[in-house]
Amino acid sequence: MKKTRICQLLGIEYPIIQGGMTLIANAELAAAVSNAGGMGIINPSAGEPAVPKIPDNLRNQIRKAKSLTDKPFGVNFSIQLIGEDRTLIDIAIEEGVGVVTVGAGSPALHTKYFKEHGVKVLHVVASVRHAKRAEAEGVDAVIAEGYEAGGLNSPDELTTFVLVPQVVDAVSIPVVAAGGIGDARGFAAALALGAEGVQMGTRFIATIECIANQSYKDAIVEATDTATVIMGRRLIPTRSLKNELTKQVLEKESAGASPQDLLSVLAPGLTEAALLRGDMTHGQALCGAVAGMIKEIVSAGDVVKSLVQGYDKIVAGLK
Ligand SMILES: Cc1cc2nc3c(=O)[nH]c(=O)nc-3n(C[C@H](O)[C@H](O)[C@H](O)COP(=O)(O)O)c2cc1C
Repeated sequence: MKKTRICQLLGIEYPIIQGGMTLIANAELAAAVSNAGGMGIINPSAGEPAVPKIPDNLRNQIRKAKSLTDKPFGVNFSIQLIGEDRTLIDIAIEEGVGVVTVGAGSPALHTKYFKEHGVKVLHVVASVRHAKRAEAEGVDAVIAEGYEAGGLNSPDELTTFVLVPQVVDAVSIPVVAAGGIGDARGFAAALALGAEGVQMGTRFIATIECIANQSYKDAIVEATDTATVIMGRRLIPTRSLKNELTKQVLEKESAGASPQDLLSVLAPGLTEAALLRGDMTHGQALCGAVAGMIKEIVSAGDVVKSLVQGYDKIVAGLK
């Protein structure tokens, strides 16, 4: 397949980025994606349970990824979590990380700092307005994420299919499509919409290298088309697998619960309970709607390979 501006920007073979997922985007996963020609991304909170401190953990994860690949990989930062604090950012810079994906907050906070240190910035957006804002702040590319996506979602609830072309028309920097992409068909469709790359989260959870709990990976493989739901619309919208927790929260929401009431159900640690300990009943099992298409746990390298090989066949079949 032809190289896009995302390939050139990131120095990668194929424009396929692995989402920097909280708790589970570990060094082994990131290195496997990068070794296959894509772009692996580490999340500072993912890795060895034996290293409880996030700054130490991030440094260890970066060093481990470096020992597993000589290809580029990046780190994800959630503005909602780090705010103005640059401790983790400085660790990534010290360790020579050249690419970051940044989400859940304003691009005004750290973009200039990253650029001063020669780091490429891809900012996650979910509307045209936010994409234009990110471009004006000097980011290198935007990741346009539709509300099919697993994890945190935008209250605007635009689908990938309508969001991506509108963002492509509105900015001149490259656009990466995210949300609902799980195989070569989604990859080809995203490029047809004008994106120059894709970011996938959910598909990379069901891989051998991801440190997610086995029960959580199995639940993704067993999921059907209607297995996920958005909850927390009056708080922070998130897409997860339906279970007792989502049922309780949605019942409270339809009864008009206040954000405070909802917080009483959404105790801290529920995401960790699902993602790392496999509590699929009461934990918050963040997951994209694409789960219904994922039928087996494979290596992360095979995910990348099947997208690239399938893409060529799909494009040839369209001629
Ligand atoms: C379990 C989970 C955790 C996530 N955590 C983060 C995160 O910490 N930071 C981030 O930028 N995106 C996060 N995401 C979003 C992904 O990076 C990616 O954009 C999204 O999963 C794409 O949609 P998909 O799930 O349909 O592939 C998360 C997604 C999932 C499924």
